[in-house]
Amino acid sequence: MTFANNQLRIGVPSKGRLSELATELLLQAGLNFRRQDRSLFARVSSIPADITFLRTDDIPTLCAEGAIDLGITGSDLVEEAGADVIRRMNLGVGRCRLSMCVPIDSAIHSPADLKGKRIATSFPNVTERYLQQHQTSVHLVRLNGSVEIMVSLGIADAIVDLVETGSTLAANNLRILTDIGTYETILIQSPSCRDLQTADRIVRRLEGVVIARDYSLLEYNIPHDKLADAEAVTPGFTSPTVTSLEDAAWYAVRAMVKSKDVISIMEKLECLGAKAILETSINNCRL
Ligand code: PRP
Repeated sequence: MTFANNQLRIGVPSKGRLSELATELLLQAGLNFRRQDRSLFARVSSIPADITFLRTDDIPTLCAEGAIDLGITGSDLVEEAGADVIRRMNLGVGRCRLSMCVPIDSAIHSPADLKGKRIATSFPNVTERYLQQHQTSVHLVRLNGSVEIMVSLGIADAIVDLVETGSTLAANNLRILTDIGTYETILIQSPSCRDLQTADRIVRRLEGVVIARDYSLLEYNIPHDKLADAEAVTPGFTSPTVTSLEDAAWYAVRAMVKSKDVISIMEKLECLGAKAILETSINNCRL
């Protein structure tokens, strides 16, 4: 298979957690494709675009160079590569911190204590910028992975690595000295994108899925005299949908709410006398 010259190209991570998350997101947004075995190429059936599967850390550079038009990657990798790309949207997944970490019992308590120490990292550029801001000179050990074991191997006094849940740090007897940045999975666009119209269409589709993941649909029945109070709790996106019930003493209400607030909103509605409160997740939306 070969790439069509004028067809939009999307770079997707070829393996790992991010590959799975990206694939799920694209399929949910109606960009249907089938990856055969370990093929590095797939054609999207419903939109004029091709997908190419790449190393996540190569995606920023390949996008800046125009080899791909859109790419899914980490904002940490874009910053590390210093890639000249357009940041189109956050994808709502892969949130993490880049942190300077030292052994739990280390005598290092501030960035100034790092002077002259050895720091292992696969983010040398971001780390160097941070240390320059703190006017601290160190010996950087540049690696591609397994950074968390470098202190116990005796290679480094500290490390700079991504922290998500903190379990890798705990397993290696490390603690966070300071955070250097916060990052997440993003969609990037090349400054020389070959089909801006299709790129915008894909962004709209992905937004539909990403925004929908933040919201739920709440439905409930509420006595007439409590409707105004209930509407104040669930104002909805534009306004809630209110329908009369057969029993004239009650209304049925439907409104979008932030998923993270659902439980507390349900409790408030229950206190107001609402019955049959139901939460439904939303798969996709256009707001
Ligand atoms: C990252 C990072 C840490 C780990 C942190 O590695 O390098 O090792 O995740 O996550 P935690 O705080 O939840 O334990 P990843 O699994 O992405 O693979 P990598 O080692 O190839 O970077």
